[in-house]
Amino acid sequence: MSARFPAARPRRLRRTPALRRLVAETRVRPEELILPVFVKEGIDEPRPVPSMPGVVQHTRESVRKAAQEAAEAGVGGLMLFGVPEFKDERGSAADDPGGVIQRSLRDLSADLGTDIVIMADLCLDEYTSHGHCGVLTPTGEVDNDATLERYASIAVAQAAAGVQVVGPSGMMDGQVAAIRAALDQAGYTDVAILAYAAKYASAFYGPFRDAAEGAPRFGDRTGYQQDPANIREALREVELDVAEGADMVMVKPGLAYLDVVAEVARAFTVPVSAYQVSGEYAMVEAAAEKGWLDRERVILETLLCHRRAGAAQILTYWATEAARLLR
Ligand code: PBG
Repeated sequence: MSARFPAARPRRLRRTPALRRLVAETRVRPEELILPVFVKEGIDEPRPVPSMPGVVQHTRESVRKAAQEAAEAGVGGLMLFGVPEFKDERGSAADDPGGVIQRSLRDLSADLGTDIVIMADLCLDEYTSHGHCGVLTPTGEVDNDATLERYASIAVAQAAAGVQVVGPSGMMDGQVAAIRAALDQAGYTDVAILAYAAKYASAFYGPFRDAAEGAPRFGDRTGYQQDPANIREALREVELDVAEGADMVMVKPGLAYLDVVAEVARAFTVPVSAYQVSGEYAMVEAAAEKGWLDRERVILETLLCHRRAGAAQILTYWATEAARLLR
């Protein structure tokens, strides 16, 4: 054999679409996607989120339609975020049985049953007047243990309204154990916990704070969310959440943290989800609007890369559209 003609030719398997399909190591399926949705109390029409073109704050009615469309497209799950009309220091609307999220959970459970997995974000930032993810001490720090009591109560309220999976996202120590105990004690042993286990203090959440109206009024979240510099710390957070009873864990944000996704997926046996967050969405939409990126190709490529890194599920604002493209 002449050195001019290599024997090994990986390109042989890239020649046709059928060959490439045959040897693809990773695929994305609609049922692995989770659509985050915002439901706002006290509005008559869906409200566009300026920094997230194509995303709206839903009314109680319009979220039902969006959920139906997601289910029809084959999307695997929904993650609900509530935006209440009234906020106070302790986020009282979060566990009010008549609160915005509980009402929508009841609607969606009645509409969709178990056809799609109905999940809810479990946090306080959208509900507190100060915008922090927990209740505060007199000196203005987030009070970890007092917050756990609030989370326990929210979990039970969401379970009573029909949630199938709760997603605690506040990064308080011991939150998974507190929520598991409260759910079990109230008889909701079947409600699962998707722990936002490795959640970084990220600038990529910027647009979300428009959508969920949960920007901190003072300070920031660096005292409870993780430092982007650390990965061993992420493994420790996941380890604790799994020990406390997390059924699934999440890494967040997605694209800039795929190394974390990969490490967590290697080290643990629970399903690992990744959250492609608002800033990731906004970057692609903005560049596509300028004609600088091929929007659909970039969407599908980023989703595929999350799967390749080891994410079993992906939370993405493109879930319904991507599910349709993937069918
Ligand atoms: C907190 C929460 C946030 C996001 C999901 N849950 C915001 C934050 O921690 O500041 C961000 C999601 C996104 O950016 O898409 N309840």
